[in-house]
Amino acid sequence: MNGDAALARGDARKTAEGLTHLCGFGNEHASEAVPGALPVGRNAPQRAPLGLYAEQLSGTAFTEPRAHNRRSWLYRIRPSAAHPAFTHTHNGRIRTAPFTESVPDPNRLRWNPLPEPVEGTDFLAGLWTLGGNGDVTQRTGMAVHLYHATDSMDRVFSDADGELLIVPERGGLLLRTEFGLLHAEPGHVALIPRGVRFRVELLDESARGYVCENYGAPFQLPDLGPIGANGLANPRDFLAPVAAYEDVEGPVEVVNKFCGNLWTATYDHSPLDVVAWHGNHVPYTYDLRRFNVIGSISYDHPDPSIFTVLTSPSDTPGLAGVDFVVFAPRWLVGEDTFRPPYFHRNVMSEYMGLIEGAYDAKAEGFVPGGGSLHNMMSAHGPDRETFDRASAAELKPQKVDDGLAFMFETRWPVTLTAHAARADHLQPHYDDVWRGLERHFRPLH
Ligand SMILES: [Fe+2]
Repeated sequence: MNGDAALARGDARKTAEGLTHLCGFGNEHASEAVPGALPVGRNAPQRAPLGLYAEQLSGTAFTEPRAHNRRSWLYRIRPSAAHPAFTHTHNGRIRTAPFTESVPDPNRLRWNPLPEPVEGTDFLAGLWTLGGNGDVTQRTGMAVHLYHATDSMDRVFSDADGELLIVPERGGLLLRTEFGLLHAEPGHVALIPRGVRFRVELLDESARGYVCENYGAPFQLPDLGPIGANGLANPRDFLAPVAAYEDVEGPVEVVNKFCGNLWTATYDHSPLDVVAWHGNHVPYTYDLRRFNVIGSISYDHPDPSIFTVLTSPSDTPGLAGVDFVVFAPRWLVGEDTFRPPYFHRNVMSEYMGLIEGAYDAKAEGFVPGGGSLHNMMSAHGPDRETFDRASAAELKPQKVDDGLAFMFETRWPVTLTAHAARADHLQPHYDDVWRGLERHFRPLH
């Protein structure tokens, strides 16, 4: 990194750490960067204040039930319609559903982190699709991506195919969006809604992490049922930006992901020119350390659905297109209980990643920046070392606070891209972690 880049990152970090936010999940926000820019009492006045253009951005169909309806009104220097034609450009290592490059694999799979990126890689160039499911033209399914970057983006990106849940593992990010600026560090997640233009700037020497691209219904908070009115991810901990705009005349490259392909156009202005906005279809961040972990205070290990941060529901109640689940620091106090995650076969498919530290079901081999895939019905659970240790452990209260792992759990199997199936960083002997699980069965006669 040269001196100018280091200086720019220092400035970006100062900006990121000084941000103010709006708080709440799914509520109606309103923000204006210039007093008087937001119309009062109507969305589309004959002439919007300050000579701005009024524009609606829909996140759901106009007619979806009010409880799920997402849309925002943007007041901008130029309408989004003011752009030249897009031309198809290369997709890099980004792939999109339907995934047909390989056959769905029933094996348990695990990867080391992506190799270090070459200098000059920005967030978009560094996106690397592991796999996914569904069909983007049907707005079903999801994709698992990883990213690594050495450079901030100069260009602007938007994804018409789905919302992007960004999970940083290394390096802080400053996200400049149409709605304003957001700051995400490792341990936070950031969500960019479908179609929202944004740019990723790096706050550290490099950046690395995971992305869930959700083609389906926007993520929402899970119902709490008997848990009550509070708990898990609390709504007020979700942070939305305040309005901030770029008044830039001059060429700006805008890349649009549409039905699996990247399309590029050079605008004569920045599209991050929204001076005021209101609505509930907004980007946001969430600090995973604020997750209120609920668990057993008697015996047994609750199903990991208890750790759901966000869920994208499907047409079947309780059956998510994709859930985002976090394994956050927590106390284990169960009596006469095997405390690490149990052995299981799941009808859902699980991609797991590690943000920091270690995971309590795997003694080694599952490292920050790496990931594992356990497709539907694949048998998995603790490795032998963990089984032996946990079976013999003294069951005093135990704090699990040496790691932060997460899961993208989806109703459909994840089919790999060709480059994920052939990757040098795919571990060849993952099955070995379950080798040597001895028989202990001693029938009584
Ligand atoms: Fe599992």
